[in-house]
Amino acid sequence: MKRIIAAILSVAMLLSIGVVSFADFNAPRLTNEEWKEYYMSLRDENTLPTLNVGADETQVSLCWHADKAEAKAEVRVSKNADMSDARLFSGKTTPAENDSQLVCRVTITDLEENTTYYYQWHTGKDWSEICEYTTRSFGDHKVLVMGDIQITEIYDDGNDANQIREGYIWNNMLAEALEKNPDVSYFVTPGDNTSSGCTDGEWQTLLMPKALRSLPMAMAIGNHDKKGMTYNYFTNMPNEYYGKHFRGLDRDFWFRYGDVLYLFYDSTSGDAPDHMAMTKEAVALNQDAKWRIGVVHHGIYGAGDAIGDLETELLLTTIFAPIFETYDFDLVITGHTHSQGRSHFMEDRKVVAAAEGGKTYTDPEGVMYLNASCATSTLVLDTDAEHLAYTYRNETPAYSTIEFIGNKLILETRKGDNSELIDTVTIERTTDERNDNSAKNVVKRLAYKIVEFVGFVYTKIDTLVRMFA
Ligand SMILES: [Fe+2]
Repeated sequence: MKRIIAAILSVAMLLSIGVVSFADFNAPRLTNEEWKEYYMSLRDENTLPTLNVGADETQVSLCWHADKAEAKAEVRVSKNADMSDARLFSGKTTPAENDSQLVCRVTITDLEENTTYYYQWHTGKDWSEICEYTTRSFGDHKVLVMGDIQITEIYDDGNDANQIREGYIWNNMLAEALEKNPDVSYFVTPGDNTSSGCTDGEWQTLLMPKALRSLPMAMAIGNHDKKGMTYNYFTNMPNEYYGKHFRGLDRDFWFRYGDVLYLFYDSTSGDAPDHMAMTKEAVALNQDAKWRIGVVHHGIYGAGDAIGDLETELLLTTIFAPIFETYDFDLVITGHTHSQGRSHFMEDRKVVAAAEGGKTYTDPEGVMYLNASCATSTLVLDTDAEHLAYTYRNETPAYSTIEFIGNKLILETRKGDNSELIDTVTIERTTDERNDNSAKNVVKRLAYKIVEFVGFVYTKIDTLVRMFA
């Protein structure tokens, strides 16, 4: 009996001191009226911080705007709620999209797993409110995925009705997902974070949900973000790769969390040589990663206008699918079509193996594609495509979680308002060996040199067209 009581007390102590912590996110679900009041209290600022993933699980980054005359790129971090014994992290300030502010970027390092931290960023005048961030396990962990957040701008006539509505849906989608999944480590989204890509207000509303102070985000670039440059001023992504031919907003990036290597591609760029170069570099530096996950905005093998669409066929399938296939990616996350669906295992534009919901697939051939719906509105399709394992037909947006447990990747997709299960599938890897250098993949990558040349020419023509447009 004494041993049992001692064991119970030990667990209670561990929980109380935060060594094992699954503290809920501060993610309140709001009524329309509550959201509108909260939205109006923040609408006319642009200083909310973005919390982004770091280069690995021991890091996160912050990015925020501050007045030009006072801006300081400093964050302090403590394990104590009163900010005692805080560590100071300094970063860089860079020009903002306006003349009155600077963008501050700081990376926080040396984080320990399963630990609660408190942090403040310097607003220029003073330290900000104290926010809380709890790291999870650096091994087995869970990730939250939602597609196209795509917050609309406030129109020139001051009409903010769409922005209010989309912010409300976004906030409550997050609230639902985090209430049911309080153990997620970070958030992945395949781009179109904003609608015009040109106004601060889109980012301000995107960043309003309080949970985002505690949930690091990894955010791809979408075609809507590419309409402007604001992504450049509101994000702080790790290992950004600017390549030889990228220009403007173009960039890829990668990061590592535990056994998982993520490679994010700017699918609005046809610059195949740089996409391949980033892949080679990231893969070479992460040979020991068990899982390889790709993230691109466009729905290469997704639901909706994925196949048969000229842009998708030529620019995307030709450029990206061979990268994913010859480097043996396990899963690719896409968006853009605003329709939720998941593919079977794909290779050479064909289904090479079925991936039915509810089943486990061990060391499968081919690549699976998850096409995330839009986090703020969803298209309901009336057609199926052969490459899809399912198509979600509902106007309520969906969210997905990916859980990495041991040698399993468990993908679940749930309805955004009540977390009803839509789809689940499991991939199991019995070996960490990759076939990157198999004869087939080496030959395919040699053939890909033609794609790299055509992609290079395409980007040059595209540049000229834009210059004279
Ligand atoms: Fe898009």
